[in-house]
Amino acid sequence: MIREAVAIAHPNVALSKYWGKRDVPGNVPAVPSLSVTLGGLRTRTRVRWSDDPREPDRLMLNGRALDRTDGGRIYAFLDFLRRKLDVRGAADVETDNDFPTASGLASSASGFAALTLAAMHAAGAGTSWPRVADLARQGSVSAARSVLGGFVELDVAGAARPFAAADRLPLVVLVCVTAEGPKSIGSTDGMRITMDRSPYGRAWLETAPRIHAALCDGLVAGDFARVGELAEASAMAMHASAIAAGVTYWNGVTVEALAAVRALRTGGTPAYATIDAGPHVKVLAQPQDAARVRGVMEAIPGVRRIIEAHPGEGARVEGAT
Ligand code: DP6
Repeated sequence: MIREAVAIAHPNVALSKYWGKRDVPGNVPAVPSLSVTLGGLRTRTRVRWSDDPREPDRLMLNGRALDRTDGGRIYAFLDFLRRKLDVRGAADVETDNDFPTASGLASSASGFAALTLAAMHAAGAGTSWPRVADLARQGSVSAARSVLGGFVELDVAGAARPFAAADRLPLVVLVCVTAEGPKSIGSTDGMRITMDRSPYGRAWLETAPRIHAALCDGLVAGDFARVGELAEASAMAMHASAIAAGVTYWNGVTVEALAAVRALRTGGTPAYATIDAGPHVKVLAQPQDAARVRGVMEAIPGVRRIIEAHPGEGARVEGAT
């Protein structure tokens, strides 16, 4: 039996956002979403299953040991994987991101995708993508989308599927980093508070599927401007519902960056913004405009750096012994 495996996964950015869970077991989203998996940023995870069930699990994140207090969610997921994969031994996990962790750059998506795939391969379990995505989703909903490459749809049954190949829409994603360090409130808590307290929670749940359907049509038509407009509309509606519940991920630089993207459009450059559960602004641009858009975004005081990403591949096993 294979005991050890290494898997690579990339983060994804949702063009139509997931925000809110259905009241059913299994970490199932309340709204459909569509994402693009991002080459250029990656998580690499090694998992080794031991034969000895008495050993404790061991977890290293970016070279630092994580105990059960800091890594509780990941340890709980290892217990879940042991049950699902019928493994009895302890897990030894080392995972590294080449981008800031837990800061709204979707490290949980690539993290749970890589962990799930490596753990399944190391356990000798079948790694068909629907099953990998189904298990990864139970670590973090957006992780199901990082199992696949290109443009990926996740439906309200929790199933991920490939929607379009990476080259369907020539696209550059410029991640404008506006702060270092972890975000103030995790997305699981943020969406729960939104649904519990926001006067616009219901409005979001009603609007999101319509934005999603129109965005899918725009993508099929290869219409960059339509996809961009709807992606920005999805992010604004999601954040408006959250802000009304007191869940604010934005900082001042986020607002400045949004204004700069709108000014680019007024000046004739098609560029659109999306924001996840953090303060960074992800600008969607066409490849021929990327250098100009980057120059404008870099000049904003408070934008610390820009990470350039492109539609990329799904999760894959790098090596197994
Ligand atoms: C704003 O997938 O991190 O990035 O399922 O609770 O782990 P959990 O949430 P997570 O939420 C992602 C929210 C988002 C939008 C998106 O990626 O669709």
